[in-house]
Amino acid sequence: AVPATAALTTRAATAASRAPSAPVFDRADHTAVTETITTDSGDKEVTYHFYGPLTYVTRPSDATHQSLVISVPVAIDGTPVDASDAPIVLANGVGGYFPSSVANANGVGQASMETGGGGTPGGPGGPGGPGGGKMVSIPRLALAAGYVVAEPGARGRSLTDANGRYYGTAPAAIVDLKAAVRYLRANKGRVPGNPERIVSTGTSAGGALSSLLGASGDSRLYAPYLKEVGAAEASDAVFAAGAWCPITDLEHADMSYEWCWGGNVTRATGAPVDRTVSRELTAAFADHQASLRLKAKGYGTVKASNLDDYILRTYLQPAATRYLAALTETARTSYLTANPFITWSGGRATFSWQDFTAHVGPRKKGAPAFDAFDLSAGENNEFGAGTTAARHFTLYSLRQDTGSSSSRLDSDIPEKLASMNPMYHIARKNPSRSKHWWFRVGTDDTDSSPVIVSNLALALENLGDDVNPLMYWDEGHGANIDAAAFLGWIAKVTG
Ligand code: DHB
Repeated sequence: AVPATAALTTRAATAASRAPSAPVFDRADHTAVTETITTDSGDKEVTYHFYGPLTYVTRPSDATHQSLVISVPVAIDGTPVDASDAPIVLANGVGGYFPSSVANANGVGQASMETGGGGTPGGPGGPGGPGGGKMVSIPRLALAAGYVVAEPGARGRSLTDANGRYYGTAPAAIVDLKAAVRYLRANKGRVPGNPERIVSTGTSAGGALSSLLGASGDSRLYAPYLKEVGAAEASDAVFAAGAWCPITDLEHADMSYEWCWGGNVTRATGAPVDRTVSRELTAAFADHQASLRLKAKGYGTVKASNLDDYILRTYLQPAATRYLAALTETARTSYLTANPFITWSGGRATFSWQDFTAHVGPRKKGAPAFDAFDLSAGENNEFGAGTTAARHFTLYSLRQDTGSSSSRLDSDIPEKLASMNPMYHIARKNPSRSKHWWFRVGTDDTDSSPVIVSNLALALENLGDDVNPLMYWDEGHGANIDAAAFLGWIAKVTG
């Protein structure tokens, strides 16, 4: 018997070869670019063929955003490169769930999110700024490592048409990324690189979408949307997925946030959040966490009551240990003097959960962090529809806002939440999901909670997937300080 995944892929590939259902890629239509790219192993002079922007659907509602660019390395430091069968790194530049565009790109690593501030090419965050982690351009590093780099634009939450209707809210961005994957598959043999070795990556909202792309491969949930935009009839599964500080599992993000940061004051006010709200969300988190039935060696089921210990020992203490071990003796001594809550013994850092959250200090967001009572959060806009800019997507916030215990979420919200949540697809063991995963987040990142990465990684480990998760000590939102290791990981998993 043919496994379900293979059957799907074969059927899709047959459909694609019968009639090109996607715009046809023209290999000759490129510009040659030479750039110096700085890597951990020094500067590399990379000559590459740059394609696009190319619209990746046949019925775009917004070709400006539903377009991609592709960079194909042809020589690195004067040595010819044959990338015709190389893995394809699909690097989305989405930040803040805003639209992302490659319309003005004339080289690799120039995808931009359009609004929201704090953005740097290639994603959100960036060095400097409160909580911003250290960040380098993955598309540029990937090109210098010899991979084909595809950078898709995507519709985002702030877009409205002439009638004031929101057309880039959920699930538009994931539909577009899937359409971009389908375009690459439908153009197999024309686009350089191996579409069976697509490795997705993104940061923050882009990390959320990358993990969702990995988890939701070939899900039928998106069929009507993909049809509407004229996506190619091909598989939209990706081989591997990387995600940096993914802002995902949005319907559980408020409770995860309070469970973790409930005791921290906010950056804006320096004051604690509403204690009743924080306590109620924390209580709801315990039920939610138990319902996931995640298992870890030495813990049995990871519940709210042992999750702090699990995250501490699996991620936080090892992160601090790596950080301290890499310092000079003098620098380590001064760090430990400034941070006496850390016990450094036998080359290992230990500390308590309470000390960790105190060390992080003021949290970035209020309570609730994602489904704001007054609909002011970006995520409220992400679940907007029609001419309504922002809606509630949790019963808790809806009921607090309306003061009614009987109110219901709009009828389309549950399916939209599912379509935006990798945990939905993982819980259903989607057979066409990626089987190779990379997760990173800074321990100082309070844009969401470390629970998000921890649960994603554990849920996938529980399915037997190959998962490489790590946290970066004292790094903020958007950090990718071991980006070079990501490229080594791609070589390993695709090799
Ligand atoms: C991003 C950051 C957030 O705090 C958020 O709620 C959503 C997205 C981002 O940087 O992409």
